[in-house]
Amino acid sequence: DWSMAAYRAEMVQKIRDQVGSGKVICALSGGVDSSVAALLIHEAIGDQLTCILVDHGLMRMNEARDVVAMFHEHYNLNLKMIDASDRFISQLEGEADPEAKRKTIGRLFIEVFEEEAKKIGGADFLAQGTLYPDVIESVSFSGGPSVTIKSHHNVGGLPERMNMQLVEPLRELFKDEVRVLGRELGLPDSFIGRHPFPGPGLAIRCPGGITREKLDILRQADAIYLDEIRKAGLYDTIWQAFAVLLPVQTVGVMGDGRTYEFVCALRAVTSVDGMTADFYPYDMDFLGKTATRIINEVKGINRVVYDVTSKPPGTIEWE
Ligand code: XMP
Repeated sequence: DWSMAAYRAEMVQKIRDQVGSGKVICALSGGVDSSVAALLIHEAIGDQLTCILVDHGLMRMNEARDVVAMFHEHYNLNLKMIDASDRFISQLEGEADPEAKRKTIGRLFIEVFEEEAKKIGGADFLAQGTLYPDVIESVSFSGGPSVTIKSHHNVGGLPERMNMQLVEPLRELFKDEVRVLGRELGLPDSFIGRHPFPGPGLAIRCPGGITREKLDILRQADAIYLDEIRKAGLYDTIWQAFAVLLPVQTVGVMGDGRTYEFVCALRAVTSVDGMTADFYPYDMDFLGKTATRIINEVKGINRVVYDVTSKPPGTIEWE
């Protein structure tokens, strides 16, 4: 893509001008945005960049491992993975309030990141994959009064506290443009096409109080759901799809016995930029087959429902 090639060159130069001989650390989440930001900055300043992937225990099945493997296979940047899952989960246990979850996750993230930054002797700049919609959605909403719908947790607060400047090379781009840029930078198609995943991860897909057990149940259901979507060839048509574990137990029958287990809600939407979205119109065979698999394979779930709410009035996530 001609214009993206030009944009890439322009951004590389801008990053060099901004950073000089300084050191940059980048919080790599494994998502497309932070990955593209990291690669662009790496192209500009090479080893002056250190990437840190904090595994908060709220990722999807095998996600942290797969992301690290992809980077090691294709690129040569400094990437360190920190397993902080016990720390996060122990402090989130029992928390039910969506904004409190985001605050705790944000605070712990800053703590872990600060510790890791110290270990590499500090840094002058913090890199983030902030996109244009992140910039506008956090200040206004469809022409109405200025309100924050959800406090999107990136790493706010960290730069001031650590006396760092921000490097945000994607601030002018929409998601589809970031994907074009990612392809330009050689990211594999399978990686570029990945659905967006929120910073607070599975924590905001577990309404009503987080427990390790619920996270494990949710992770399994989510993996089966995504597997079925891929097998049906629908993954690239859908903007974002995920399972939510509801804090509701219902009665079921299995074999000779009565069960009393959780309800799993499935969500899938189409969208251009995440600002508005339509629920995805699956055919009933797909939903039925997926529900059966989840109930048969995941201990702890005995009922599956599908969310047919578009955005607005719903949001994409449930919290
Ligand atoms: P909503 O639920 O607001 O989501 O319609 C729009 C897009 O943003 C993602 N999202 C988040 N991303 N931190 C993030 O990094 C958050 O706290 C957060 N909340 C929602 C959501 O997954 C969707 O892609």
